[in-house]
Amino acid sequence: MKVLVVGGGGREHALVWKIAQSPSVDDIVAAPGNAGIARLARTVPLRPDDVEGIVRFAEEEECDLTVVGPELPLALGLADLLADRGLAVFGPTRSGARIEASKWFAKELMFERGIPTARARLAQSRDEAVSAAREVGYPVVIKADGLAGGKGVVVATTEEEAVAAIDGAMLRRRFGPSGERVLIEEFLEGEEASILAFTDGKAFGLMAPSQDHKRAFDGDLGPNTGGMGAYAPAPVVTPEVLEEVEDRIIGPTIAALKDIAGVEYRGVLYAGLMITCDGPKVVEFNCRFGDPEAQVTLPLLDADVVEIMLAVVRGELDPSSVCSKTASAACIVMASRGYPGSYETGKEIAGLNAASELEGVLLFHAGTTDADGRTVTSGGRVLGVTGVAPDLSRALAKAYDAVGLIHFDGAHYRTDIGRLALARLEAGGRATE
Ligand code: AMP
Ligand code: GLY
Repeated sequence: MKVLVVGGGGREHALVWKIAQSPSVDDIVAAPGNAGIARLARTVPLRPDDVEGIVRFAEEEECDLTVVGPELPLALGLADLLADRGLAVFGPTRSGARIEASKWFAKELMFERGIPTARARLAQSRDEAVSAAREVGYPVVIKADGLAGGKGVVVATTEEEAVAAIDGAMLRRRFGPSGERVLIEEFLEGEEASILAFTDGKAFGLMAPSQDHKRAFDGDLGPNTGGMGAYAPAPVVTPEVLEEVEDRIIGPTIAALKDIAGVEYRGVLYAGLMITCDGPKVVEFNCRFGDPEAQVTLPLLDADVVEIMLAVVRGELDPSSVCSKTASAACIVMASRGYPGSYETGKEIAGLNAASELEGVLLFHAGTTDADGRTVTSGGRVLGVTGVAPDLSRALAKAYDAVGLIHFDGAHYRTDIGRLALARLEAGGRATE
């Protein structure tokens, strides 16, 4: 089988790594890939948003399966175009991708079915938004309705901050047309968790629950990023919480997509949750694997991911085929100085070979490229260094040992990934063994 993977970040490296383990796969191509992916797959210089180019390529190369990593090509209809040509694709259609591409669409589905989520209102003008924020009270969450690369959400603690966020999105159009409409949302208190489900639009199977760390610096300080590290399984998701997520969130959402929006959703449904004192509530849905959640959930997946993906494409997913190992994984993201703001690239990365030789360590490249026989940085998030071990504490130790061997000018990473979970486990929470 020939598999095409669309994207070039850490998530896609984890996908390529897992797909390469499938005995049915003998050729993997990545568009555009990165330096790490290039060691496992052919790479082609196609941008993920060049959907026409990707469809042409998949057709010419007769790819047996296309796996779409990022949300943008899905929102642009890549899955629809591939399916129209009779090509198998893992990822939802454009209408399915609306669950991520329009936060209001997702809210309406949830409100309609009583799926637990923060209360919210849609505002179509600046004045409407400001008065809605005042009504909700502070803190209040301001969200651009459309895709904003993870930057479209502001938690405002004062009216001044709320007005600045609203003006930025609606008047100055910081996120382009994505900020034409904004959601004014109730602030939820709790701990976050990510639940990723494989689904064929009817049945679903959950991967290990994980937790991302979105802020740039230790102690959850600094600006929001795409994600600075993750671990799985997350002990905040107890078996009781997980059951509630299945019964009250994932199952009803898949059914609502079908009944209300007429979408048979095929791919990964990612629920970003707040585990509140009233139980789990949805913060957002994504139409794809998380990054860096994929770098911890895929190493724990105890199954042939290509078999699962093909079953999803055929609409024949057996939920019991989605199972995870009894182990833990932790991923530390090494980023460029300045990320998520502006940063320099082209810095040589040293120590990759030594780090990759450590037992239980997986190096997933994100922003890297090969230049004159050297591997250099080419993005904000540079590497995802994953450790896998029987328990979280050892998984974290392995990942941090490997991080200690890797150097590039300006490298920055958080030193407290998984710390809350370790404290919870030590305090007698659910053990991972
Ligand atoms: P999103 O892009 O919707 O995941 O939002 C980015 C981040 O903003 C989330 O990971 C949360 O940390 C925070 N956030 C979003 N919505 C809420 C909410 N209703 N209450 C509290 N925090 C939120
Ligand atoms: N890690 C957050 C995301 O993938 O959206």
